[in-house]
Amino acid sequence: MTARSAPLRVGLAGFGTVGRAVARQLQRETDVDLVAILNRRAPIWPAGAVADPVRWTDSIDDLLDFQLDVFVELIGGRDPATDWIRAALRRGISVVTANKQVMAHDGPELLALAAEHGCQLRYEASVAGGVPVLRAIGGGLAGDTLVGLRGILNGTCNYILSRMEQDGASFSVALEEAQRLGFAEANPSQDIDGLDARAKLAILAFIGFHLHAPVDAIAARSIAPVTPFDFTYARRLGCTIRQVASASCDASRRQLSAAVGPALVSLDSPLARVSGSENLVTVTGELGGETTYGGRGAGGDPTAVAVVSDVLAIARRATASTPRRFTAVGEVADASAAPYYLRFTVRDRPGIIAALAAILAARDINIDAILQEPGFASTARPFVVTIDPAPASAIHGALDDIRALDFHVADPLALPIVTAAVTEVVA
Ligand SMILES: NC(=O)c1ccc[n+]([C@@H]2O[C@H](COP(=O)([O-])OP(=O)(O)OC[C@H]3O[C@@H](n4cnc5c(N)ncnc54)[C@H](OP(=O)(O)O)[C@@H]3O)[C@@H](O)[C@H]2O)c1
Repeated sequence: MTARSAPLRVGLAGFGTVGRAVARQLQRETDVDLVAILNRRAPIWPAGAVADPVRWTDSIDDLLDFQLDVFVELIGGRDPATDWIRAALRRGISVVTANKQVMAHDGPELLALAAEHGCQLRYEASVAGGVPVLRAIGGGLAGDTLVGLRGILNGTCNYILSRMEQDGASFSVALEEAQRLGFAEANPSQDIDGLDARAKLAILAFIGFHLHAPVDAIAARSIAPVTPFDFTYARRLGCTIRQVASASCDASRRQLSAAVGPALVSLDSPLARVSGSENLVTVTGELGGETTYGGRGAGGDPTAVAVVSDVLAIARRATASTPRRFTAVGEVADASAAPYYLRFTVRDRPGIIAALAAILAARDINIDAILQEPGFASTARPFVVTIDPAPASAIHGALDDIRALDFHVADPLALPIVTAAVTEVVA
């Protein structure tokens, strides 16, 4: 392979947490020349923000007119980022992005556009920040047939759940603390409701299984209903609680099962040890079995490593290892066939267990054990029922029926118990 004679001309859009770190790092590289930066506040940034001779603009048309080889998109969100990426690719300008929403929703269309125009679209930073998991799956594991993916993909949820685990803090106290320390947004819904993680899971599914699903079709459950009481019971079961994203595909590679939500994870599993902004992804292949990738999933510098590595790969004319052909799937099955933890808080009276058991039995769901800590008032008595492996659809259907009973003082909670290889948890 021959090296390029002239440095690659790079234009950057977005000068926030990641954009600044990328600009700093790009200016240390000799194979690339950061020629221009787009930002809404372009006129107030030039003074020493980055070394000269970078030009500043607030117009995408101006930026793309700088005879760029690579456009780096770091503004986030779908609109206008998707249109900007399309515009660059149509001009034959390669694109590097960290944008999970754009790639999860429109990745296959944009990759096809890049191929049509003879340029590249790289997006390593869109999943797990500085952990090169997309490259590992798309390149290093290309010789295997992947059947399962499981990961901890959201640092905000890690932080909140770790605080609840360590100090017995309530969800709202842990969330307020995360917001005060800058680990959670003012509107934390994307993180706590699992929307951020499911976009990343959709990208992992199209790299790993070559299946592209509508992101909204992936079940996402919030961590908000988890209480300190759940951690007490999780520990009795040898587990803690994390937001887990899981996906698997069937043997024909046409059907996808995927879900994101809080789950019990065994205390001795790598998932339980992930904390703060760390991410972890475990991939199961038919031939190679499980491989695991972990490291810092967020933050300016770790994410910039992934972005700049993508730029350098283009400078060095490396071929992208991402697949170009995808099977579109219209529906995504919920996670299934896991043992479950069901927590109820009830106004106690005789017959409650019998009523629950009847509803569960009607859906062929088998009770494993009933756990109840002493010392709670009969007006709000919590207890837990563990369930032998059952499909998520059956569990959530039963829970809907159980909710209609008149003894609840808090909404029941169902958490899958992650104990086995991902293919056994998500059928
Ligand atoms: N931060 C992380 O740890 C991390 C990790 C992995 C991936 N990512 C991804 O990296 C991307 C950037 O994230 P970030 O954390 O750097 O975000 P950020 O700090 O909010 O920075 C975004 C920058 O883009 C600018 N911008 C937004 N919309 C714009 C528009 N329409 N026109 C012009 N400028 C616009 C913003 O300007 P204003 O300040 O004027 O709004 C800001 O300077 C996102 O796709 C994110 O998901 C981030």
